[in-house]
Amino acid sequence: MNTPLPPVDKRLSGIVPRLRERLREDGARPRIGRVRRVVGVVIHAAVDEVRLGEICDLVDPKTGRRAKAEVVGFSDEEAVLVPLGDLTGLSSLTEVVPTGKDLQIPVGPGLLGRVISALGEPLDNRPWPPEGIAGSYPVHAYPPPPLSRVLISEPIQLGVRALDGFLTCARGQRMGIFGEPGVGKSVLLADIVRGTDADVAVVALVGERGREVREFVERQLSSEGRARTVIVAATSDRPAIERVKAAYVATTIAEYFRDHGKHVLLAMDNITRFARAQREIGLASGEPPTRRGFPSSLFAALPRLLERSGPGEHGSITGLYSVLTEGDGTLDPVAEELQALLDGHTFLSTDLARRDHFPAIDVLRSRSRLMESVVPPAHRAAAGKLRALMARHADIELLLRVGEYEKGADPLADEAIRKIDRINDFLRQVPGTRVTLAQTQNQMQEIADG
Ligand SMILES: Nc1ncnc2c1ncn2[C@@H]1O[C@H](COP(=O)(O)OP(=O)(O)OP(=O)(O)O)[C@@H](O)[C@H]1O
Ligand SMILES: [Mg+2]
Repeated sequence: MNTPLPPVDKRLSGIVPRLRERLREDGARPRIGRVRRVVGVVIHAAVDEVRLGEICDLVDPKTGRRAKAEVVGFSDEEAVLVPLGDLTGLSSLTEVVPTGKDLQIPVGPGLLGRVISALGEPLDNRPWPPEGIAGSYPVHAYPPPPLSRVLISEPIQLGVRALDGFLTCARGQRMGIFGEPGVGKSVLLADIVRGTDADVAVVALVGERGREVREFVERQLSSEGRARTVIVAATSDRPAIERVKAAYVATTIAEYFRDHGKHVLLAMDNITRFARAQREIGLASGEPPTRRGFPSSLFAALPRLLERSGPGEHGSITGLYSVLTEGDGTLDPVAEELQALLDGHTFLSTDLARRDHFPAIDVLRSRSRLMESVVPPAHRAAAGKLRALMARHADIELLLRVGEYEKGADPLADEAIRKIDRINDFLRQVPGTRVTLAQTQNQMQEIADG
């Protein structure tokens, strides 16, 4: 005869702890996946329970080689991953181990004066991690809520007369610097980083040539600005994902300093290369192309990236983004989108550069949407007057060249002819000659009144 079973609650009370123990073991055990296919720059892997943006370790069980990859999509039953760094050494045996974490970057005052990669590694042959690391920040963050942001009310000095005078930026403004290749975008950004009165400058060099990174570093970090500058670089030979991350990592570092009450200048050179790198990844992971082959995820990513700059509760991030434009003067979809998203645009002119007029800023075509609210009335009036003189001079330039202009016909034109050389001297500036905002305002006033 069977022995009677113990009552149900007694049986359950024996099972529950065992179930708990089993669950704990399962939770701690890494969920290991496998590489199924590698297509171009993306890896398709059979791996369960991973999130978009999650970092996975790629581990080769034979060689022990490790690398990191980020989940960027899903297709059928597979996760699509992009390796952060080099693909060499990856094999069909490579295991994919989810880490449960998103990409993080160490942050702290120890970053000042350093040159780092988009993966948070040193590029300057100095010890890493540096002293003065305060913790880490997630690279993909949300912009601050709109209502927690202070209103933009103070100007930031950029140290370049043409900008501070005619296109004054506010602390927390986002400005695009648009120009064709070789028109002087990088030289101008470097000059701003040197000339600004921001507490901290964070520079993202995205898809630049290695030589340019070196030039930038030598120009910047040998000067007294070193102690307040952080450079994040992903050169053109680095994988697309690193070029994309460089933009996010630099923004994240700027956020750290802003959260600590600093006024930060974030200079990105250039955001078109960020967009192209994002296109490379989007197309490789199977996203359908839209305008000019750019995937729609890019047009969602751009505002999210740019909105992270701006004023915070205490500090601010003033964002300057250089944008490549094409020779025929038309804007590609990315430049067009940026023009709509940013609070100001500075156009550089090939024509001025050809005439050795540097910085080659086309003042009449450029606008800062916030200038009106941050400069004193006298500055506004002087800038308005000089703009009017420049516009009138441009109108009559052809007549002047062919000797057809008659003096005395138009007082404004006469004044423009009289002052144009002084205005152009004011607009031209040798890189490295920092001018304060007050000096710029005084000089403008003198020309306007003189
Ligand atoms: N302020 C300046 N004074 C004198 N020359 C300048 C100045 N700015 C630019 N140049 C000249 O123009 C060249 C190109 O400048 P720069 O590298 O800044 O262009 P860019 O717009 O960044 O080009 P790319 O789109 O290829 O990155 C410089 O090597 C220099 O000869
Ligand atoms: Mg450049």
